[in-house]
Amino acid sequence: MTEQEILDSLKHIEIRTGKERTIKSYVLRSSTLDEAQKQIVLSGFERYCTIFRDELTDPKTLFKDPSKPVIVEIGFGMGTSTQIIAKERADYNYLCLEVYLVGFVKLLRDIEKLSLDNILLMRFNAVDVLSHMIADGTIRGFHIFFPDPWPKKKHHKRRIMQSDFISLLSSKLEKGGYIYFVTDWQEYADWTLELLEKEETLYNPYDGFAPHVSWRPETKFERKGLDKSYQINELWFEKK
Ligand SMILES: C[S@@+](CC[C@H](N)C(=O)[O-])C[C@H]1O[C@@H](n2cnc3c(N)ncnc32)[C@H](O)[C@@H]1O
Repeated sequence: MTEQEILDSLKHIEIRTGKERTIKSYVLRSSTLDEAQKQIVLSGFERYCTIFRDELTDPKTLFKDPSKPVIVEIGFGMGTSTQIIAKERADYNYLCLEVYLVGFVKLLRDIEKLSLDNILLMRFNAVDVLSHMIADGTIRGFHIFFPDPWPKKKHHKRRIMQSDFISLLSSKLEKGGYIYFVTDWQEYADWTLELLEKEETLYNPYDGFAPHVSWRPETKFERKGLDKSYQINELWFEKK
């Protein structure tokens, strides 16, 4: 790709059919890069990023080592836990989706410094990526950590965890694959537990919430929640 193609590819982050996106789970923020961010993008993009393609693919084939199972992270924010998990659990490939440009560039800079070859970043709406680009039964796990809780009732429709989205996640999982969801918003935790339990293709190995998974490091969002004495709830469901 030319430098211009790389920079242009970051401007389109969703498919719009008609006026609306499927789930408006994020608010679009600035898409401009300063000079330093442009340099990070141009130096790391070809090795550490991939672009949206409207063609169902087994994402293993996108990685340097296609023998590793693929984990998809949805909404990695600044990528703090992403890079720690990818480094420590190097037997997996990580396809990491985020629309927030500042976070995308930050994680790109960090993984370039660490030379992590088992991560690919995509700046694109996760709903579109899953619906249009990921073939069914190809994903080992989904990581969804501290997604925006959209606490007001009138905004609940913006939550990424909706029954259709959960069915979509499940269709992309291999048998035995998992959905790992964490939130500090109690009502969102209860909402998601109820939806996951309703999805017949999934199975909860725990009675309700899951115990803390030792390899997931604490993030800024988590620390903020803990500082307010919020309960961190984890959910772990597997594909039947
Ligand atoms: C509250 S932040 C949490 C970030 C991170 N997981 C953490 O624990 O620090 C949620 C992130 O999800 C991203 N996001 C929301 N909807 C998304 C979507 N449909 N596709 C990709 N990213 C999305 C937002 O841009 C935001 O950065």
